[in-house]
Amino acid sequence: MVSIKSIIKTVIYLLKPAYAILFRAMPLKLLLYLAGMDFGKDLNHPLRHKILFLLLGGSVHLDLLKKVLKKRYCKMTLSERRICNEIFWQSGSSMQWAQRAFNDPQRRCNHSSFNLMVTLYKRVGRPVSVLELGCTNGGTLSCLQLRGVKVSKYCGVDISGDNINKAKLRFEKHNNAEFVKKDFIEYLNSTNDFFDILFVRWTFFYLDQEYLEELIHIISRKGIAKRILVFETHSTSHYSKQSVLFSACGVPLEYSHNYPSIFNKQNYRIENNSSREVKKGISIFEAVLIHSLG
Ligand SMILES: C[S@@+](CC[C@H](N)C(=O)[O-])C[C@H]1O[C@@H](n2cnc3c(N)ncnc32)[C@H](O)[C@@H]1O
Repeated sequence: MVSIKSIIKTVIYLLKPAYAILFRAMPLKLLLYLAGMDFGKDLNHPLRHKILFLLLGGSVHLDLLKKVLKKRYCKMTLSERRICNEIFWQSGSSMQWAQRAFNDPQRRCNHSSFNLMVTLYKRVGRPVSVLELGCTNGGTLSCLQLRGVKVSKYCGVDISGDNINKAKLRFEKHNNAEFVKKDFIEYLNSTNDFFDILFVRWTFFYLDQEYLEELIHIISRKGIAKRILVFETHSTSHYSKQSVLFSACGVPLEYSHNYPSIFNKQNYRIENNSSREVKKGISIFEAVLIHSLG
């Protein structure tokens, strides 16, 4: 006997190519918006998201949508990709993602990257000034507070205006905290500030190699940060080569960078490098980098 469930499964399977065609014809802006949506059922989605969830049938079709998006991305030039990423980060979907950090702060703040921050803070032996690139809505600053890291000055930079506004509201009473809505390179070129620590997490792998190298070069040349604490994902099989595209979580595009090589070129030496495999073929690069000339 053929069950109704298997008939439905077959129909969905046959419809897959139709979805692909639909997504290919879809304007990129809409595709970016949809692919960036968080389909977790525990969040309060507006009705239109719930309808889309029903139509797309959850993660299987979301994965298909991401694949189509990735293919389109790969065909683009670097400057087109940068424009697309900017559109993505300005969209509401990145807000949803950032908000999740505040759902379980205890768990988030026990993350190994914050353990490293605590170690580094103790080593400096006084309140530290911190710059964060990719600060979203201020989750890191709350974790530093929760973990007892005394911060003399904090500056968070992000291109997402909505996230920066949220962070500003969250920390409006903290006069040593500043949140800046700017592109990273634009910010680094314009600032005259210096920081004890630059903290970057799950952000460098969204930047293409040319952009990342320029960014590290500016930090090194201007002496903006002596120490960098970086936590990024990369594909193990790509590690020894130049930066390449890979897929860690889907959207937008991720680059697998050879971090040790990029940082060494700009006079940073690596301490505590704990590159470890988190799932087959995908590793976490977690390191404290010290500027050799600093
Ligand atoms: C994955 S999130 C960062 C997560 C966060 N660091 C954490 O630990 O929860 C990446 C952030 O980088 C920002 N971003 C990406 N490219 C950027 C750029 N070129 N300039 C400024 N912000 C950028 C995005 O808006 C986004 O908020």
